[in-house]
Order: sequence, then structure tokens, then C-alpha cells
Amino acid sequence: MQVPFIDLNRINSFVVARFKTELDRLFDRSDYILSEAVSRFESSYCKYIGCKYSVGVNSGTDAIFLSLKALGVCEGDEVITTAFSFAATLEPILQAGAVARFVDIDQYLSIDASLVEKEITKKTKVILPVDLFGNPADLPRLRKIADQHHLKIVEDAAQAHGARIGNKKTGTISDLACFSFYPTKILGTIGDGGIITTNNEELALKLRKLRNHGGISKNQHEFIGYCSRLDSLQAIFLDIKLGLLEEYIERNKGLVKIYDENLRAVTQVTTPVFKEGSNYFLYSIKTDRAPDLAELLKKNGIGTFSYYPYILPELFGNSFEKSRFRNALDVKGKLLSLPLYPYLTSEQVKYVCDTIKTFFTRHI
Ligand SMILES: Cc1ncc(COP(=O)(O)O)c(C=O)c1O
Repeated sequence: MQVPFIDLNRINSFVVARFKTELDRLFDRSDYILSEAVSRFESSYCKYIGCKYSVGVNSGTDAIFLSLKALGVCEGDEVITTAFSFAATLEPILQAGAVARFVDIDQYLSIDASLVEKEITKKTKVILPVDLFGNPADLPRLRKIADQHHLKIVEDAAQAHGARIGNKKTGTISDLACFSFYPTKILGTIGDGGIITTNNEELALKLRKLRNHGGISKNQHEFIGYCSRLDSLQAIFLDIKLGLLEEYIERNKGLVKIYDENLRAVTQVTTPVFKEGSNYFLYSIKTDRAPDLAELLKKNGIGTFSYYPYILPELFGNSFEKSRFRNALDVKGKLLSLPLYPYLTSEQVKYVCDTIKTFFTRHI
């Protein structure tokens, strides 16, 4: 049996027919940039998330960078962020000229909110948590800390479309929340794309200018901006797919249950902990034998991926004190993400679990 790590062909096959019809209309209208389609998707996303404004941009990375710019983050400022995430959480901080102050992670692999306050200095401007693997960070607690210290929160929600904290969706508690529509995300498109959500009108307007050369209309350049717009093609595709997001989350949740039931008894594997409002984006097991296990799964037709073989403080030539990031270092290189996506079958999941069990019975 073949179980690819992700099967975009199958996932997207359910929306292709509608997309093609919309594509014909797009050719008729020929409005490819900052079009009616982009505004329509921005409205749909606001409605879905439950926020007032959203600004479509070129990628999740740009969403974070432009958010920091909109808040005026620049050289000399500090941004507090997690020690464990994708490199794109860190790059925009450094690109903005700021210094990243890293905080270790908790049991959900999110920034440990109890350690944030002691990292705050006079230079701190922003707290940048990540909703890693679809588990929302402890945003209510971070919100309190940020408000007490007059800081802003830029949330890296790149992996957390549709995730919830109580009855609120991720993207509604922080000042600015940044989502990625990279094709493999639970709400993924057919190229690059991202969006920023906010309830702050002033910030939304600033972001609309930042993404479009510093102005809303042609020949208007109030400041040096960027060229980072969500295009019509992606907006159309995403608007169709957004209607299926809740179904995707439910399907993934069902598959997680099967993984949990089958892997709980495997003592060499630690199964992931999901928060109540998770969107069940990734199923990452922890094992000391991650590379060998990945190799065996590959031989048996099963795709896996290592998110992440590094911690952020060690990227880009930085040096760091190991004792400050014990939890992050403890998971570095030991996590193996297993196939998890809508339309993956329960038989495929059981086959993955059986192959894992076989590996560990052979390697006791
Ligand atoms: C946690 C995290 N942050 C940021 C990004 C950057 O998003 P993009 O690839 O759309 O630039 C990603 C996606 O890959 C991500 O997973």
C-alpha cells in the first residue's frame, strides 16, 4: 500500500471543477491583482474567523514581516518568540532589524507563557507566539501579559486555520494574526499565499498600503512599501476551499483518533497532545529512532517529514545557552510527522501504525 505524506492531487480533486468554472470568469474579467475575488475572499475569511479585517498577502512569511513593519518594529527593538518553529517565524524578525529573544516550549510545543514575562525588557515591542501543528498557543495568558506591559501580539497562525480557543477562532485574540496558504496547509492553495487578520482598522489600512508599494491606489506612495499581494487566482481557489475547512478538520480529527488508538501501546513512541480547539493539522510522534523509522516507513511506501530538525536559536549562526531550551532541544530531530490529511483512509492509517509496530518489535 502507498501512503504519501500528503496527497494534494486527491485533496484538490474535489474542488477542481468549481475552480475551472471560476477561472473562466476570471479570464473574462481579467482582474488579476487586488481584484473583486481578493476582496470577496478577505470578507469570507473575516466572517469565518470572526474578525473585522483581513489583508491578503503573498505568503505567511510576508504576513509576519508586514505585521512587524505595520507595528513599527525596527532596529533596536526586541521580539519575544518561541524556540521551536519553522525558520519563517524567525526570518521576518531579523529582516525587520529586530533581535529575537527566544523562550522554551511547553508540552503542546507552544511558547511556554509562564516564561515570557522574564524576557521582557525596555526594548521589547512584540510577543510572537506560534500555533504549532494546529494547537493554539496560550493566547489568553499572553494577551494579559502583553496588555500589562503595553506590548503587541503578532501571532504566527500559519498552521492554525480554523483552530479555536474556547468559542473564539485563532486570529481574533492577538493584534495581528498571520496565516499561510502554502499548498500543504490544511487550508492550502495552488501557489503561495497568506493573510493577516485583525480587529484594528488603522493597522488593517497600514497593511493594505504596505502590501501595495505604500498606497491603496495607483501612483499613491505614502511610504516605502512592498509588493506582496494575494492574487485573484489564489483567492478564488481559497474561497472555494474555505467552505470545506470544517469538514477537513473533522476528518483529520477522526484519523487522529485511529492513530492514537493504535499507537498508544507502542512504548517507544510518544503520541502528540492535542488541545481541545486544535485543527489537527499535523500528527507528529516523538521517538529516539526517528531517522531509522522514517527510512523503514519509506521502504514500505509511507511518506513522513521531520518538523523540525533544528531549534530557532541555533539558526543563522547564533549561539545560545542550551540550558534555556531544554524542552525544545528534547524534541529537536525526534519528531516524525505521519501522513494526516482529509481523504486519507482509515485503512491507510492502520497500515502506517502496523508498520510502526513492526519496526519496534524488530528493534527492541
Ligand atoms: C509556523 C510557520 N510559520 C510561517 C510559515 C511561512 O508561511 P509561508 O510558507 O506561506 O511563507 C509557515 C509555513 O510554511 C509555518 O509553518
